[in-house]
Amino acid sequence: MKQMRRSLIALAASGALAAPMLAHAVGDVAAGKEKYASCAACHGADGGGQGGAFPKLTGLDQEGTAKKLAAYRDGDQDYLKSVGLGDRYGTMAPNASNLSDEDIDDLAAYIADEFGGSAGGEGGDQAAAEPAAESGAIAKADVERGQALYSSCAICHGEQGEGGHLMNAPKLKGLPASQVASLLKVYRKGTEMGQYSYAMIPQATHLSDADINNLAAYVATIGKDEVVEQE
Ligand code: HEC
Ligand code: HEC
Repeated sequence: MKQMRRSLIALAASGALAAPMLAHAVGDVAAGKEKYASCAACHGADGGGQGGAFPKLTGLDQEGTAKKLAAYRDGDQDYLKSVGLGDRYGTMAPNASNLSDEDIDDLAAYIADEFGGSAGGEGGDQAAAEPAAESGAIAKADVERGQALYSSCAICHGEQGEGGHLMNAPKLKGLPASQVASLLKVYRKGTEMGQYSYAMIPQATHLSDADINNLAAYVATIGKDEVVEQE
């Protein structure tokens, strides 16, 4: 931000403000790279995502990416739905809310250029690719250990993962294991997602990868099989 303001002041001082506006329409890859630093926590430094709840940004074209970012910023959920996004609108939207048109062009240019989007199509179908990885993770996990660990989560999220017990903890029931695991890993890094992340981050800080898998596997079983009758 500071840097952008400085360069705007420099441009204004040189009286060249009007011309660069045109140049920005195509986006500045180098500037986009710097701006991307804040996105990496969730989408990975290489744009590979984290599986689960955090889509990869590979294979996206520049124009489509710019449109999506603008839609997150402007709250155009209809458009996002039309390209298969929006399930986790609330997680992504705050990250776009302060982007200028120039930021969006720069980011879209960087994402398309660096993560191999030039050949890609519309994108937006990342979520569909996830479930395959999931069953493997569950197979390796220790669901009983996950259930034991979950006792410390239930105080906020509820015994059945129904949510809403303390601190506005969200419902967990129905989330696939891959999403639970990816969300826990992002909280573990201390990344703020929603308004109440401060309550959740300390719960994830001390979890090992194995326990994240165990918890995710257990949470994914809530409301299925044996407990299905309770709903
Ligand atoms: C706190 C985590 C988080 C951060 C930080 C974040 N995003 Fe996202 N992003 C998400 C999630 C979750 C989604 C999926 C949202 C949905 O379901 O609509 C998403 C979706 C997207 C998409 C659409 C992907 C697709 O499949 O077409 C783009 C593009 C994107 N983000 C770019 C960015 C950029 C650029 C930044 C940095 C300015 C950023 N994100 C920061 C979590 C994050
Ligand atoms: C002190 C209350 C509290 C405890 C204990 C707690 N959580 Fe949370 N959890 C929250 C809150 C509040 C949020 C929403 C945070 C936000 O706004 O980003 C959350 C979010 C989550 C999410 C993301 C859900 C989504 O769809 O975005 C997952 C997954 C999660 N918690 C799992 C767990 C697990 C597993 C445990 C136990 C290891 C746990 N939580 C313990 C309060 C808690």
